[in-house]
Amino acid sequence: MSPSKRSWWAYSPRTFTAKVIALGAFLTFLLTVYIFIPSSSYRLKTGLFNPRTRSSCSPEAYSNGQWTWSPKTNVTAMTNARQAMDMAGFEGCAADREFFWHLGSDHEEMWGRFPNVTNYEWTPSRQCNNLRPLNRELLVQDMVEQGGWLLIGDSVTENHFFSLSCILYPHVRATPNYTENPYFERHWPQNLYLREDSPLIPSLNFPVGFNLSVTPLVTFRRVDLLLSGEQLEQLHRETYHDKDDFQLFSKELYWSMAPSEYLEIFQKPLPEANYGTLIVSTAGHWTTTLMSGFRDESKENDGYGIDNVLKFFRVAMKKWADDIQAAMDVDEGTKGGRRRQVVVRAYLPGHENCHNLFEPYKKPVGWQIKWYNWPWILDFDRIFGEVVSSSKYRDIHYLGIERPALLRPDAHAAGDCLHIMTGAGVLEGWSHYIWHYITREIPGRIR
Ligand SMILES: *[C@@H]1O[C@H](CO)[C@@H](O)[C@H](O)[C@H]1NC(C)=O
Ligand SMILES: *[C@@H]1O[C@H](CO)[C@@H](O)[C@H](O)[C@H]1NC(C)=O
Ligand SMILES: *[C@@H]1O[C@H](CO)[C@@H](O)[C@H](O)[C@H]1NC(C)=O
Ligand SMILES: *[C@@H]1O[C@H](CO)[C@@H](O)[C@H](O)[C@H]1NC(C)=O
Repeated sequence: MSPSKRSWWAYSPRTFTAKVIALGAFLTFLLTVYIFIPSSSYRLKTGLFNPRTRSSCSPEAYSNGQWTWSPKTNVTAMTNARQAMDMAGFEGCAADREFFWHLGSDHEEMWGRFPNVTNYEWTPSRQCNNLRPLNRELLVQDMVEQGGWLLIGDSVTENHFFSLSCILYPHVRATPNYTENPYFERHWPQNLYLREDSPLIPSLNFPVGFNLSVTPLVTFRRVDLLLSGEQLEQLHRETYHDKDDFQLFSKELYWSMAPSEYLEIFQKPLPEANYGTLIVSTAGHWTTTLMSGFRDESKENDGYGIDNVLKFFRVAMKKWADDIQAAMDVDEGTKGGRRRQVVVRAYLPGHENCHNLFEPYKKPVGWQIKWYNWPWILDFDRIFGEVVSSSKYRDIHYLGIERPALLRPDAHAAGDCLHIMTGAGVLEGWSHYIWHYITREIPGRIR
């Protein structure tokens, strides 16, 4: 080989020992690069040097599982509505709004679902061997020391909040008390606070300023669309250059807030707040009845123009992600020294005929009747996931964990086929996986 044609490889060490040393140096270099890549969430997003994603329990690995029979009780039949809690393995539930509706035991003629409906457990794929077992004491500890959860979403997220109030019981108390204030408004904040008599208190490492009477561990705010109505109208005008008489919304009721409003809640300092994780979910209210400006009666077999709602949803979630990431870029983290994180939980469609089905599916089943926007919910999820997967949104994480819910037609509230009852394992699985994800998959310490 002539000197001019020598490749770099030709200069590599000739002796065996030198080769071993060179290899060692190269591996050390790789490890150094791995450690100094900015944040592990960046690594997760880019997939760069990421042996952890393969061995850890990603949302996909978690979702890729089955429901398995796992009885939690020896009680064979329900004789009063409160037994729903025992059957699900809860000592009680702190929240009190629509108590038995959430537990699925408010219709006596449907008590025959119990205890079976509470007797299944989600078994994720074998890649999830390292999934943290759900433990309410450790969950409370993380919510105090690493930051609480702010749940932003519609009535399905309210289902999630109620379930958390049972998981964390008896360590938490809930506000408001709906027994004392029955004339509720859906936009009222609902909170879970650590109880002053919780035996955990002496062992917790409270951030400076934490106040048991005012610092919530969990808050739910009803926000159906993630952006305010005015923002969506304006975004529609800018995107489609509407005619003057165009109206996006019908008279159908919905509740929403601008991200700036709930980010202010999220980032408020102690003692008013100590949130570490913002958990959002949306899709159920993105319909052609609420957004009647998109409705097209001629498309009866195609969701009456739902494809246009989906297109607008992509535009809107991009704006949402821009606004959220801009706020996260200047976020100073929690007093406990954690980077705050934003998690998008995939939405779930309802099931047809749900009250005649009494066991989990092995595979998701499609729709005969096209109720609401159910057949398109997975499209909304996919779009939201695609939007936030961009590496510019480094603090926003999409959790595509809707599959366990898709496989549980039996787990709905007694009065409809969209809402999910507490205790069947679906809502509890969301809390379980989100907790695992934020504490194990994206360690976010900044100081
Ligand atoms: C059911 O009863 C058996 C026998 O009494 C007992 O060993 C078991 O722990 C009980 N299971 C539950 C979930 O209570
Ligand atoms: C409950 O589940 C058991 C075990 O799968 C099954 O044998 C039984 O028929 C179920 N009961 C009802 C009421 O569906
Ligand atoms: C709500 O108020 C009622 C009536 O004062 C009381 O009995 C109940 O214990 C309260 N519920 C909770 C969860 O604190
Ligand atoms: C906690 O907040 C309550 C209600 O605002 C207040 O009365 C109390 O003094 C605060 N406790 C501490 C230790 O700051």
